[in-house]
Amino acid sequence: MKVLVKDQIINSADANVSISDRGYQFGDGIYEVIRVLNGKLFTEKEHMDRFYSSAEKMDLVMPYDREKLTTLIYDLIKANNVVDGHVYFQLTRGVQEPRNHAFPDNVEAVLTGHTKIYKRDLAMLEEGVSTVTADDVRWLRCDIKTLNLIGNCMAKTKAAKVGAEEAILHRDGLVTECSASTLLIVKDGVVKTHPLTNLVLPGITRMVIMDAIADANIPVKEEAFMLDELFQADEAILASTGHDATPIIEIDGKPVGNGKRGPITAEIQRRYDLRIEQECGKA
Ligand SMILES: Cc1ncc(COP(=O)(O)O)c(C=O)c1O
Repeated sequence: MKVLVKDQIINSADANVSISDRGYQFGDGIYEVIRVLNGKLFTEKEHMDRFYSSAEKMDLVMPYDREKLTTLIYDLIKANNVVDGHVYFQLTRGVQEPRNHAFPDNVEAVLTGHTKIYKRDLAMLEEGVSTVTADDVRWLRCDIKTLNLIGNCMAKTKAAKVGAEEAILHRDGLVTECSASTLLIVKDGVVKTHPLTNLVLPGITRMVIMDAIADANIPVKEEAFMLDELFQADEAILASTGHDATPIIEIDGKPVGNGKRGPITAEIQRRYDLRIEQECGKA
């Protein structure tokens, strides 16, 4: 497999990073995951916008302009013959010796990236997934797509231990999002999701779904809600680059609605697929 290190595409066996890289020492960096469909980047502009916005929020200096970064990402996809899958790339603040918490001056940020090949999971999109609830123990800048994901990892592990796909996070009962995805619920025909505050990541899949909801004239409220409202939902959706709009059919062992994909979820998925087709062509 080929990987990206700085502005070079090299064999993964030849890639190495310094143990003094701040990404390794502090999780001091940012990342993106972009879906590749038919060899094209889906929602490329939106992901690039968020990458540059994360960098700005962290005072990270981007070593390449957008055009160069996009070229490097496409070169990596081509080098690994990715038709369907995703590309992951991250930027750390770079190497600093001796270790010091304060951000250094004049250190070059380090870009790395790799790819993964997989097809859309059509069975999962129809049958849905089970989830568990977990305390949201993360920090208060969840709007930044930082490498610091230990709170997310702890929650996802709780889910994995019982064979669930995702963990739905809450702060003292107030539902935020999932460990690696956005959460939306539907009650009496109205979609609800947490507003874009510091407590959630501005998900790109969420953005595509919100466009679909607007086009379909489905009522939507960007409002926080409590766990009891979650358990009374007719439908629930897990939204992320890797999951698209996946139905949640079970939470903590209890069925959501009738335990099957609901009509609003199906309509959102139909429109989501159209958007994919517009940007990347037919599967
Ligand atoms: C915490 C969190 N929320 C939401 C998302 C969904 O974001 P996107 O739709 O851009 O993949 C992710 C994706 O990794 C995430 O880690």
